[in-house]
Amino acid sequence: MADVQRKEPGVVIKDGWSGYSLELFNYPEHYQGDLECVYIPHGVIMNRIECLARDILEDIGHHDMMVLCVLKGGYKFCSDLVESIKAQSRSANRRLTTRVEFIRFKSYLNDQSTEDLHIIGPDDLSMLKGKNVLIVEAIVDTGKTMRALLQHVETFQPKMVKVAGLLVKRVPHGAAELPDYVGFVIPNRFVVGYALDYNEYFRDLNHICVISETGKQKYKV
Ligand code: HPA
Ligand code: MG
Repeated sequence: MADVQRKEPGVVIKDGWSGYSLELFNYPEHYQGDLECVYIPHGVIMNRIECLARDILEDIGHHDMMVLCVLKGGYKFCSDLVESIKAQSRSANRRLTTRVEFIRFKSYLNDQSTEDLHIIGPDDLSMLKGKNVLIVEAIVDTGKTMRALLQHVETFQPKMVKVAGLLVKRVPHGAAELPDYVGFVIPNRFVVGYALDYNEYFRDLNHICVISETGKQKYKV
């Protein structure tokens, strides 16, 4: 089986990118004034996900896949990615089963990362044994979550583990290793939408956006 070390950087968004004006896109009315710009439009996210799904199928092959979705931020990415993998496998007339398990880390309050990581989810991931595992994360910044999760998953002796990250953030002391599949590499800015939250708000926004100062104040805890 092909086990290519792909690790493409993905679509790289430069530091100077100020996003699209909000007037150019449709977004929920209840967030008027709370956003600064549309950073990555929903359609662009969806198209990029189709490409990731294609790459994943090329590498893992049309084999059964155990998907480990990192909640809550990863739920939309995971759902759209799995749908695209299924659709592309189907149109290639291949058989593929996918099973999704969920895992959660508690680590963010406001827009600051707190120090400790707790894995919340099934203690027993023995169903991963001997399987092709795809970890699906919305954001990789320091890579701490990814490393902790990889270590945890390896103890269950999977056949293969790959990581898909929709966004990789260029932070100081950023992840030493990229996920195997990267959607976008973005500057160190706090983004919301497409299931990414600010104190649980903005998950219901389809685009990935930058929050405004007003928005930050409004939804502060
Ligand atoms: N937005 C939402 N959640 C996050 C982010 C972000 O930019 N970075 C890490 N968790
Ligand atoms: Mg959060």
